[in-house]
Amino acid sequence: MRVLGIETSCDETAAAVVGGDRRILSNVVLSQLDEHRPYGGVVPEIAARSHLDHIGGLVARALREAGTGYEDLDGVAATAGPGLIGGVMVGLMTGKAIALVRKLPFVAVNHMEAHALTPRLTDGIEFPYLALLVSGGHCMLLAVRGPGGYRRYGSTVDDAVGEAFDKTAKMIGLGYPGGPALEEAARTGDPARFDLPRPMLGRPGCDFSFSGLKTAVRRTLDALPAGPLDPKTASDLAASFQQAVADVLADRAARAIARFREEFPGGSTLVVAGGVAANRHLRAALEKTAQSNGMRFVAPPLALCTDNAAMVAWAGIERLGAGLTDSLDAPARPRWPLDETAAEPRG
Ligand code: KG4
Ligand code: ZN
Repeated sequence: MRVLGIETSCDETAAAVVGGDRRILSNVVLSQLDEHRPYGGVVPEIAARSHLDHIGGLVARALREAGTGYEDLDGVAATAGPGLIGGVMVGLMTGKAIALVRKLPFVAVNHMEAHALTPRLTDGIEFPYLALLVSGGHCMLLAVRGPGGYRRYGSTVDDAVGEAFDKTAKMIGLGYPGGPALEEAARTGDPARFDLPRPMLGRPGCDFSFSGLKTAVRRTLDALPAGPLDPKTASDLAASFQQAVADVLADRAARAIARFREEFPGGSTLVVAGGVAANRHLRAALEKTAQSNGMRFVAPPLALCTDNAAMVAWAGIERLGAGLTDSLDAPARPRWPLDETAAEPRG
């Protein structure tokens, strides 16, 4: 089985070909970072236009690098949401057009499902498992039972964790994108210098909250002498923020592990996925939490944590394998909760 995957939900234009044997035959990612950098964040219209300019060439390149013709494909999978609607439509329409012309099965992929299933592509882990999905738009803990089978244990009541990284980095005056810049600054910083709050720590349930932490960083900055931060203070503040996030994620994950073990006695793996899972400090904290709770820990390699199309192709393979295909009128969905029975998170 060979599936073409297409991803255009945020600021990466990506195409990939993946085999049913978990081989990634090609994985092409074009980042739009330079186009958005002057604005300090992703501009939806610029993103959509850029996806439109590049998607055709990227699909051709992904097929060429995989040594695959359209006639060798068994299906086409494209992200249908959640994400920036203009960009999602570009990838979704491209995928549908290929499926229509080549008479291939089509799969409309939920971007978060693609992140959640990535550890099966990279590590071949078995269902069920517990997943912590941390990205620019999401922060949630889920039991993963199979393609389309998710039970949400908790999610953020305000900001997503990647969003908190990005906004905090901006306040501290670090570069764009914020997450990687903040991690880099934190490397040499003292995580104990600033006493920042750990929202939700010790509370029942598995929900997250990050807006109070962001506000605390703002207050800390306001209390410092005016003018640009000296590099030492910037890296101490970055390290203090990152440590607060690590403590919160570890606490929430430990609670979710307890619940998961009760509901799924056969499961024993915690996976972390999504762009923020690229953060080495957070990975280490979560690995420790998993180990001290008797769980195996799996995090995909960095390049498959951030947005890519190999994960979309793989989600397509999983869904096709489960007999799940979509019609060519599948809509683009700016919001699309993974757990269809759960209420939408606030904010
Ligand atoms: O999954 P992703 O590539 O796109 C979304 O679907 O949101 O995640 C992007 C997010 C951004 O907020 C980015 O700042 C964050 O992941 N991120 C990081 C790191 N690398 C990316 N956050 C913290 N540390 C990192 N090293
Ligand atoms: Zn993502």
